[in-house]
Amino acid sequence: MQTLEPVETSVEKGRDSLSRGDIAGTLASLWEALTTYFAEPSASDEATRRAVAEEILNLIRVTLDHETVRRVWNTGSVVPEGQTLRSLPEFLTLNAQMRQILAQIIQLRHSRTTVLITGESGVGKELIARAIHLESNLREGPYIPFNCAAVEPELLESRLFGHRKGSFTGAVSDQRGVVRAAEGGTLFLDEVGELSLEVQPKLLRFLQEGEVQPIGDDRPTKVKVRVVAATNQLLETMVAAGKFREDLFHRLNVIRLRVPPLRERREEILPLAEQFLRQLAERERKQLSFSEETRNILQNYHWPGNIRQLRNEMERVAAYAENWQVVTPDLLSEHITRYKPPITKVSAPTATEGKTLLEIPNGTALQDIVDAVERHVVENALQRNKFNISRTSRQLGVTRKGLYIKCERLGIALKEKD
Ligand SMILES: Nc1ncnc2c1ncn2[C@@H]1O[C@H](COP(=O)(O)OP(=O)(O)OP(=O)(O)O)[C@@H](O)[C@H]1O
Ligand SMILES: [Mg+2]
Repeated sequence: MQTLEPVETSVEKGRDSLSRGDIAGTLASLWEALTTYFAEPSASDEATRRAVAEEILNLIRVTLDHETVRRVWNTGSVVPEGQTLRSLPEFLTLNAQMRQILAQIIQLRHSRTTVLITGESGVGKELIARAIHLESNLREGPYIPFNCAAVEPELLESRLFGHRKGSFTGAVSDQRGVVRAAEGGTLFLDEVGELSLEVQPKLLRFLQEGEVQPIGDDRPTKVKVRVVAATNQLLETMVAAGKFREDLFHRLNVIRLRVPPLRERREEILPLAEQFLRQLAERERKQLSFSEETRNILQNYHWPGNIRQLRNEMERVAAYAENWQVVTPDLLSEHITRYKPPITKVSAPTATEGKTLLEIPNGTALQDIVDAVERHVVENALQRNKFNISRTSRQLGVTRKGLYIKCERLGIALKEKD
């Protein structure tokens, strides 16, 4: 008769993994234990089978109760709140979606896969690319950022892949090109949507075959380079319009990190503002702090230029302010102090009164309207269900995790107010 010993060994292994916080290892052992248990239905006597089943169940229970699993369940992120990268401590992530990105950067540590970072201008795409490099095992190698939009189209191929002396007018010496300069490290291709249709097949060949052919060379050269690309354009739309090759898009889009705009992670505005003010004031040998009114204005502004705009604003403040000054609103740019947050009121949609759902002043950004509608629907559903998360998420057709993430993003408290 078969014994259940292998099952117990797997459970033991699972407990060991859990004690080290290795959730993936724990789940793998649990899977092993369960499949072995069910593969041998007649192994051991009934009492032993029960005892072993109880051990498996126990391990499932403690796994579900593990803080990492609970955190993923509650916040949708494996990264503890407030965790930063040792390699890039100024990279701040206080929002659930940003912590998810941080978790992905950490998960990608041992990978060389191409990553595509998308998001509006100034959201931090380049900082994320640098984080990916610094966290990877290529960190000792070079990190070469290259902005595809900053080079004349006719020089792009040679800047990327290099050329031989004399291969065209003006080629006065051999050039290695940025791809080969990044050998053994990471090439950050910024604004990749700007690449012309002529250069795109050459980039594709490099990504697929790992080789480049400098202009004027008759043979391709092998290179080992990890590529991280970024764009603030909708590449899918460009593909549909025939401006970006579909095969190149798929080759770049292996892992996609979507970086949300600052207005969708409002909990980061003041911490970022404070971090920038501290850094930039230090450069000016000043000690500065915000008045309450200034904090309110910064918090409620919509930051169309995202983090870059916030940083520039802080640079301006740091330059104008006197040492030890409390920064009052008159030191902020006028378009920021004059800005009025658009949504003033969300009224319940009551058909009988024939009212519109929202009062939307002119010039309201679409995202703000969508957020306001979502907030209204989610808050109502929560109240109707007395803040029961399972029922609310079922009713709204989202997962529990999805509901938690939504509430965090929209700033909805998940407990009934007293
Ligand atoms: N999460 C963050 N924490 C701290 N600083 C940040 C963060 N994200 C961005 N920054 C800072 O904001 C500025 C703009 O970021 P970055 O240059 O990475 O944006 P970008 O998305 O590449 O912008 P663009 O599309 O305009 O090139 C930089 O100074 C960067 O260091
Ligand atoms: Mg950039």
